[in-house]
Amino acid sequence: MSQELWSQVDSYIAERLMPPDPALDAALAANKAAGLPAIDVSPPQGKLLNFFARMIGARRVLEIGTLGGYSTIWLARALPPDGVVVTLEALPAHAETARKNIERAGLTARVDLRVGPALETLPLLASEGGAPFDLIFIDADKRGNPDYLDWAKKLSRPGSLIVVDNVVRHGALIDPARDDADIQGIRRFFDLLAEDPNLSATAIQTVGSKGWDGFALVLVEREQE
Ligand SMILES: C[S@@+](CC[C@H](N)C(=O)[O-])C[C@H]1O[C@@H](n2cnc3c(N)ncnc32)[C@H](O)[C@@H]1O
Repeated sequence: MSQELWSQVDSYIAERLMPPDPALDAALAANKAAGLPAIDVSPPQGKLLNFFARMIGARRVLEIGTLGGYSTIWLARALPPDGVVVTLEALPAHAETARKNIERAGLTARVDLRVGPALETLPLLASEGGAPFDLIFIDADKRGNPDYLDWAKKLSRPGSLIVVDNVVRHGALIDPARDDADIQGIRRFFDLLAEDPNLSATAIQTVGSKGWDGFALVLVEREQE
């Protein structure tokens, strides 16, 4: 098995199941033109996020890590007209590209984009006292995952779904030779899941155009104590 074959299979899936989409295609082109790294979710993964939101009837979604807004568009499209995706992005240049992509997709009214490090914008968001989020997508710096899980718990309700991307990292998750801050953050995140009686979690390994990775799915079972 090789990256080339995984990418070809992803192309096969996308060609058959994901017709050309002017807004999403333009977003990826704009990201590239602006020099953003191509670390957005893949088209099949974006559609999966969209399905998750629709399957649980999400009205309020929180995304940590916007980049150029590719996943934001998939998520915002899943919401009813009065739904909202609050999306957090540290870098102003990324946020600016996202803002334009979201506007081109006609979704400005359904997206609340906040610029700044998530550990600064999350407390502000919490202080606003809004309704809990139905779906939370964590996809920023991986060293921050333990803190983001903590905030996700505070900002959710029993029944909320938390999706966390990039938790396998080409197997680095269990590679003893890898011990950088991001891998430590992912391992700590798994430890926190394992010891939290109010959460149920699983993780799915994936291969595709973005390599060998995986995502965690966390269900909030009970009110946090
Ligand atoms: C993997 S990309 C997000 C991809 C996006 N969710 C998508 O699929 O289209 C991660 C993003 O998180 C942002 N980021 C990194 N650290 C952050 C932090 N501490 N707070 C907020 N955003 C952060 C990065 O600048 C980058 O744009």
